[in-house]
Amino acid sequence: MSVTRFGVSLEKELLEALDNYAEENSFTNRSQAIRHLINNNIVLSKWQCNNLVAGSITLVFDHHKRDLLNQLTDVQHEYHSVILSSQHFHLEKDMCMEIIAVKGKASVLTELSDKLIAVKGIRHGKLTMSRAD
Ligand code: NI
Repeated sequence: MSVTRFGVSLEKELLEALDNYAEENSFTNRSQAIRHLINNNIVLSKWQCNNLVAGSITLVFDHHKRDLLNQLTDVQHEYHSVILSSQHFHLEKDMCMEIIAVKGKASVLTELSDKLIAVKGIRHGKLTMSRAD
């Protein structure tokens, strides 16, 4: 793939933030860091369509919340065709974490993740995706 060079003007604070980001993520130079950021933002948003992706949905919640587990199960059955497996971890006395492995169209996985995270009582929720084609 051919590479094009171009100049970028940045405020001092943004440049510092970029350098910190590069260092924290062990990028060897700014170009690599910028490439990664572009890929994660512009390219990822294009995935909101038909691309085949694989990933995981992480949910953290209090299992005592009324009806929460039932609702999580209902949503997962609705999307059974894109769910590979799920695992439940008892983090603390009340806190649970569930990690659901998924594979399918990015738009469908996003829809599933949004529904799960919207269930009342979910403390944190996050979907991560990688290309799978
Ligand atoms: Ni639990």
